[in-house]
Amino acid sequence: MAQQNTLHLRGGGTSVLVDRTTPGVPAIVHWGPDLGDLADDVLDDIARGVRPQRVSGGLDETGRLTLLPQEAFGWQGTPALLGSRLSGGTAGSDFSSALVMTALEATASALRLTAQDPATRLRLDLEVDVTPTGLVAVRATLTNEGDADYEVQDLGLTLPLPASAREVADTTGRHLRERHPQRHPLSVGRYVRESRRGRPGSDATLLLLAGEPGFGFERGLVHGVHLAWSGNHSLSVERSQNAPSALRAAELLAPGEVVLRPGASYSTPVAFGSWGRGLNELSSRFHEHLRRRPQHPSADRPVTLNTWEAVYFEQDLAHLTRLADLAARVGVERFVLDDGWFSSRRDDTAGLGDWTVSPEVWPDGLAPLVDHVTGLGMQFGLWVEPEMVNPDSDLARAHPDWILQARGVWPASARQQQVLDLSNEEAFDHILRALDALLGEYAISYLKWDHNRDLVEGGSTVTGRSAVHENTLAVYRLMDELKRRHPGLEIESCASGGSRVDLGVIEHTDRVWASDTNDPLERLTIQKYTGLLLPPELIGAHIGAPHAHTTGRHHTLPFRAGVALFGHLGVEWDLASASADELGDLTAWISLYREWRDDIATGALVHADLADDTMDLRGVVARDGSRALFVYAQTASAQSHPTGRLTFPGLDAAATYRVEPLAHPASATGVGQSPLGWRDGVVSTGAALHEIGLQAPVLLPETLAVITVTRVGEATP
Ligand code: GLA
Repeated sequence: MAQQNTLHLRGGGTSVLVDRTTPGVPAIVHWGPDLGDLADDVLDDIARGVRPQRVSGGLDETGRLTLLPQEAFGWQGTPALLGSRLSGGTAGSDFSSALVMTALEATASALRLTAQDPATRLRLDLEVDVTPTGLVAVRATLTNEGDADYEVQDLGLTLPLPASAREVADTTGRHLRERHPQRHPLSVGRYVRESRRGRPGSDATLLLLAGEPGFGFERGLVHGVHLAWSGNHSLSVERSQNAPSALRAAELLAPGEVVLRPGASYSTPVAFGSWGRGLNELSSRFHEHLRRRPQHPSADRPVTLNTWEAVYFEQDLAHLTRLADLAARVGVERFVLDDGWFSSRRDDTAGLGDWTVSPEVWPDGLAPLVDHVTGLGMQFGLWVEPEMVNPDSDLARAHPDWILQARGVWPASARQQQVLDLSNEEAFDHILRALDALLGEYAISYLKWDHNRDLVEGGSTVTGRSAVHENTLAVYRLMDELKRRHPGLEIESCASGGSRVDLGVIEHTDRVWASDTNDPLERLTIQKYTGLLLPPELIGAHIGAPHAHTTGRHHTLPFRAGVALFGHLGVEWDLASASADELGDLTAWISLYREWRDDIATGALVHADLADDTMDLRGVVARDGSRALFVYAQTASAQSHPTGRLTFPGLDAAATYRVEPLAHPASATGVGQSPLGWRDGVVSTGAALHEIGLQAPVLLPETLAVITVTRVGEATP
């Protein structure tokens, strides 16, 4: 197979065609829909058919967008590799590599190639995999084969876009408002989204997307790239006049951060590319990929109560045991004690770093609460923020040099805290020992692992260099080691809400906290776009108090609960303040979630493209297609009156379904002045439900209806 000129990698409905005749290293000439089984000569003709001509004003051989675009072979856009020698002759030499493929192995879905350059004495190993769910995973390893140090400034992974990709979309945001979409035309030039925050950040775009203008969740060819990495990174899309447009993903390295000694290597994180006819398809490739991992959490995600918005720092055993009693009564299965249980941590100004139970707040330790919670049949979880330290802590006083810093002074403070240098082995061991002791002493099966500030000037006092890269790897190691020592331990990735959501951290954790806002109106957008990357069972979604603490808005329980359904459901509300009716309704919502959670965790998540932006229709379709659950939310006053139609995506066009609004516990069945035609249910086909749809119930703004869809048979031809 390695003898062919054109390789055809396939998997999960994706084809990747690789022309190995391009200068230097091969080029992907197609990444997208599966092209079927193609004969070798046809493959070669396809590749020959897209070779560019030489043109006036250009180089004599037009540069190609290879897997490793290099200036040496005429590439004049962003090169794959930037770096140079630091010593051994002229500093700054070997700045231009001419890596040429020297070995290639390919299977039906993967290739491994080695490229070497005898002049610069560099070697690059590249792995390209088309996964069984149709993602493309790419990773590069650069090795210094010379006898002097080589600094890697930038090593990017490139994926080509089809000519139809003319519009870019990404997400941005801030604390309490993560992942809101933005769009613009893909014009000539380079559009870059970076994180220099030492974590992806609240403004992170999980994916950088480019597609046919107007692409939506159901329609339009769209491609996207994500970097599986929790540190600094750069995602970009570039359009030029001389070559196909391309997506690029790279770790963002600080000056001097990666210097390869002779014989040493640097590996990039894995860049994942996905495509789809609409974002539903693009994201399902990620969801199904994650679900196939051996460590993927089981489908019956335990309903969680988190104490943060219930009590904040006011930790009191009597109040918390009462909260646990109520939680168990409404159907909660995991009880998580949030910030404030340790050392001098009575507010957010002190104590981080001192991971011992506060004798002041917990004179008998955590055992009375842990025993009470586990005695009620619930799991016990605990909040920690292992990478952080308050200057007002015993740890910071004892080891000021364990704090990430440059210039001999601590960096600008954020939330009154600094960041520990976990690449310093002593600091790492200290934190590992402290957490290990806690997990050994108490029946803690879940850690809410927080990370509440951006890194700035993230240098190590041990090396004197930027240590963001090493710290990113160190936190993965710390998580893995704790899990190894405490089998069954689950970890949630929280970072001031949703500031650390990526496929790097999710390899070491079991869910993410999408945002610190529990306001369901905000959550609709946050969860929709976090769901581009992660399936719902990995996204924590909590039912907050009636009055949202972060926005001041007031919402009904059906709106709060209905929005939280398509996630890993939890409660973050002081249930001692809830009425008996509210507790009864909450119980019903939790049991609705429990009835559907297996489908939520294994089925297809779909969003409808509707003409009216105030209408939000999302659902999950069970894996076997037998049923589906939809939530229709009215986010503001509808444009039409009566409201427009709901068209249902994701159903089998040929099957017949019974569709009905769920009366209980979803009370919002509408305020129209005559009854909804399908109030008592209708039977229709998947095709008709998608193409024609159903009249949407007239809802008040910020209310929702839950709709069940049950397959009742196949359509007659
Ligand atoms: C962060 C988290 C919150 C909460 C607080 C505790 O802001 O995102 O959920 O745990 O810290 O201090």
